[in-house]
Amino acid sequence: MNKKIRVWDLPIRVFHWLLVSCIIASFITVNIGGNAMQWHGYVGYCALTLILFRVCWGFVGSYHARFLNFIPSPKTLKEYLLGQSTAVLGHNPFGSLSVLALLFSVGLQAVTGLFANDDIAFEGPFAKHVSNATVELLTSIHRINSTVLIILIALHLSAIFYYHRFKGENLVKPMLVGDKEIDPSAQAKYLPTDLGRASKDGCLQRGFALFLLSLIALIVGYFITT
Ligand code: HEM
Ligand code: HEM
Repeated sequence: MNKKIRVWDLPIRVFHWLLVSCIIASFITVNIGGNAMQWHGYVGYCALTLILFRVCWGFVGSYHARFLNFIPSPKTLKEYLLGQSTAVLGHNPFGSLSVLALLFSVGLQAVTGLFANDDIAFEGPFAKHVSNATVELLTSIHRINSTVLIILIALHLSAIFYYHRFKGENLVKPMLVGDKEIDPSAQAKYLPTDLGRASKDGCLQRGFALFLLSLIALIVGYFITT
């Protein structure tokens, strides 16, 4: 019988799919332009809240969500490249790099947006507090980074497709339901300690995540409106 292990807790899954929705919405709204820019700002604030939540969850969340448990060292990257590493339940060493790059790029996009100006009728809430030169610089970073973000998302989706097509591993299902199912014949590929490390995903954990997310949303809301 397949061994089922909880890898992605509910907070990580909700974070992921909400973030995907925010990014799609921000690209749609910016392409519509005009009054939709107001909504571009709102979904951008939501993306910022989600990223700040994810950073905190990377320290206090469940086992596979913690940065310490997936940030790779040069040694693990080298072993992975040489095919010498064991299989991992959470992000693999290269997947971890792409995850960190995505988090950074979305975070940078949301923060620079707060200072950006579209030269028509919309600007981020902090633009009025800084010089024109700073607004111009941060707006340029916002523009350039949007291309970087598209490239990172394309790489992210290509890697997921590659794993599905060539390695026979469906990564999307665990990101939807939380569990990875390990075939008994495949268990030898994993470290026994890794197979014993399920992510905690109980009511207490979820309640705490909701509290943390609400607190961060309040703080972001406070800074944006004052
Ligand atoms: C706007 C586009 C997207 C962004 C910004 C994004 C971002 C991310 C981030 C930050 C993570 C790390 C999760 C964490 O540990 O917090 C992640 C993981 C993941 N994402 Fe996405 N994602 C996007 C689109 C998608 C889509 C469309 C799919 C499904 C087809 C997908 C499937 C996954 C999967 C399966 C993982 C886990 C990968 C693994 O097993 O290491 N993502 N994504
Ligand atoms: C993660 C969230 C965000 C994403 C993915 C995003 C994405 C984008 C994209 C793709 C563009 C078009 C860039 C171009 O013209 O090449 C843009 C422009 C813009 N965004 Fe965002 N944005 C985000 C957050 C924000 C926030 C929070 C604000 C302000 C509240 C904001 C304000 C603006 C403004 C003012 C422009 C126009 C800049 C220009 O005319 O070049 N954005 N954004």
